[in-house]
Amino acid sequence: MMNFKNLQKNVHAYLTYCKDVFGAEVLINREKKLTALDLYRQEIENCTKCSLSATRKNFVFGDGSANAEILFVGEAPGAVEDEMGLPFVGLAGKLLDKALHHIGLDRSEVFITNILKCRPPGNRDPLPDEIALCEPYLHQQIALLKPKVIISLGRIAARTLLCLPSDTSLTTMRKQHYEYCGIPFCVFFHPAAILRNAGREDEFFADFEQLKEKYLKN
Ligand code: URA
Repeated sequence: MMNFKNLQKNVHAYLTYCKDVFGAEVLINREKKLTALDLYRQEIENCTKCSLSATRKNFVFGDGSANAEILFVGEAPGAVEDEMGLPFVGLAGKLLDKALHHIGLDRSEVFITNILKCRPPGNRDPLPDEIALCEPYLHQQIALLKPKVIISLGRIAARTLLCLPSDTSLTTMRKQHYEYCGIPFCVFFHPAAILRNAGREDEFFADFEQLKEKYLKN
């Protein structure tokens, strides 16, 4: 008999196939069109795999277009994100919005998510076992989205997705061209770091200009 894990795997493989064949929208019933990503959210939003589920107000799945070509990955929801159930909606999010507008994009045209889907109390760094338990959700989101490029906002997302040593510095990573399963992968400053060090705002915006130059030509 098929166990639940295998069933999940098969459903995901089927949804990924549907997205390839029919595009992002999968017709679920006559009233409502849900994307494969919407279905995945429904499947995981009540997660209780780690202790953060006990302290969260909202599971923060991610936000944006299911057809997004650019995926931004941050660290973990903060207080405002936890309150609203949306990623990057606090002060750091406002700076991210500004950088997106700088290159003619709105957050509704990209997809934004985090390594952790629940807020660590007091905004502490994610713990290794929290990352290990939550990370498969992000891998599946990437498999469903199939973005043209992935942008890590800060070092935690980059180290996690690229399996880099925990002492790899952001300065080193920003200069490299990486790939995640064949998808180009860039490392940008975390907008919260720019809020703490406004002197680097030009570099932050320059990274977005390069993103536009490389991936938004047409
Ligand atoms: N910082 C993050 O890394 N993610 C958010 O969603 C908000 C702030």
